[in-house]
Amino acid sequence: MTAITKICCIGAGYVGGPTMAMIAKKCPHIEVTVVDLNEQRIAAWNDVDVTNIPVYEPGLSDVVAEARGRNLFFSTDVESAIAAAQMIFISVNTPTKTYGSGKGQAADLKWIELCARQIARVANDNKIIVEKSTLPVRTASAIKDILTHTGNGSQFQILSNPEFLAEGTAVEDLDAPDRVLIGGDNTPEGRVAVQALVDVYANWIPRERILTTNVWSSELSKLTANAFLAQRVSSINSLTELCEKTEADINEVARAIGTDSRIGPKFLKASVGFGGSCFQKDILNLVYIARSYGLSEVADYWEQVIIMNDHQKRRFANQIIKNLYNTVNGKKITFLGWAFKKDTNDTRESAAIYVADHLLHEQAEIAVYDPKVIKNQIYADLNYLQTRKEEENRKGVEVIEDPYKACEGAHAIAILTEWDEFKSYDWQRIYDSMLKPAKIFDGRNLLDADKLKSIGFQVRSIGG
Ligand code: NAD
Ligand code: UDX
Repeated sequence: MTAITKICCIGAGYVGGPTMAMIAKKCPHIEVTVVDLNEQRIAAWNDVDVTNIPVYEPGLSDVVAEARGRNLFFSTDVESAIAAAQMIFISVNTPTKTYGSGKGQAADLKWIELCARQIARVANDNKIIVEKSTLPVRTASAIKDILTHTGNGSQFQILSNPEFLAEGTAVEDLDAPDRVLIGGDNTPEGRVAVQALVDVYANWIPRERILTTNVWSSELSKLTANAFLAQRVSSINSLTELCEKTEADINEVARAIGTDSRIGPKFLKASVGFGGSCFQKDILNLVYIARSYGLSEVADYWEQVIIMNDHQKRRFANQIIKNLYNTVNGKKITFLGWAFKKDTNDTRESAAIYVADHLLHEQAEIAVYDPKVIKNQIYADLNYLQTRKEEENRKGVEVIEDPYKACEGAHAIAILTEWDEFKSYDWQRIYDSMLKPAKIFDGRNLLDADKLKSIGFQVRSIGG
């Protein structure tokens, strides 16, 4: 195969947008077209004011500004982009199924299949199809099955190239990844396809960081990486409860074990619970796959990571209730942060949603401030749970754009996201404006508890 000069990516979301922007930036000789059915999203990617792109990531608007219109294009014309490209990335959403068999666990591959069928319909020459979405192991065989029946003689190679970027650090992760993983068939055609993708990444990534495996190892490695990372968070979180009973301090424990080079210091930050669109979905998917092969011990082992995370979110909400004299009815509780982590506007599976839902059930009045999440998203997140009517969510939750105003008259503040700006607030001013005793529940162990206590706050940290 000749070198790749035209790439199409189906799905202009948190992964498709940033990954393709980086490929376009680093490979000016490749024309990259990112397509999506969502017209509003494409319009936002094309907004003349590049700060209005739909994904907030530090540094991303600069990358888009450099390449957009040169060799990076965003379009809703899916078919033309498929037809023109030699290499097609599939980067559509693969959420947990909400219906039918596998409901609540299996990945919903509806959108993947639609992509495969659309490619089959439109393609009239040979193409390399790249799975960028996170997929259950052996999905490539389903894609292949659909594509081999096009009837026009086109040949397709399916590669797995999972994405490891984390939100909030997407640009640095894409610029200098720990590794890029490419899985392909061990046939002459498969090896040629793998090499074509290796050559794209080799424009900026050292060759030794580009790993190649068979397709199934690559697909399974993505689920495994997320399961391991989430398992570390659940492991440290499981010990926060024990710390609270025994006067051990989770930060000290994390530092003590993290200096062991076999354990390492990363992903040991105790929290109100992990969120994000990936960890829960991918572990549930792993659990589902293991069960479908009859591996119940394997499934139970990984399911415990989710059980512990749900417990941590509930425990945080219950601690607030208990500490506010066993009732939050009519009490104002201010949430600082709604995003699932700092430096992103993404709220999918954010712990804040579940903590808010629990407190609303107890008839609390919640005020929310988040530097990047818009009001409608917060209501949409709560409405999605279908716990109560939309009007009731609007009545129980007020979204306020000024953090000081959000805290005024509050009985308690809960820190749900570790935004840096929270650390530099005038906490004396906040204290003065709150009801007393003024309480802070720091779900991220972000703030300086001693300093806050010296102002007069009652502070509850996680595992402290
Ligand atoms: P997303 O929901 O932000 O974006 C997916 C986009 O695909 C949407 O805009 C949707 O409109 C579009 N789409 C769906 N079907 C389509 C079709 N048939 N034609 C055209 N467009 C279509 O999702 P995301 O967060 O970018 O995740 C995409 C995949 O990447 C998922 O499998 C996810 O597990 C994986 N992943 C996500 C992250 C992350 O940090 N978000 C990291 C690594 C991997
Ligand atoms: C994750 C993986 O890290 C990434 O490789 C994959 O491609 C997508 O899924 P992401 O969900 O964007 O990335 O963010 P991540 O930094 O992993 O954080 C996930 C959640 O875990 C967040 O809610 C975060 O606050 C929480 N977390 C993380 C902790 O509570 N403690 C930690 O020590 C680390």
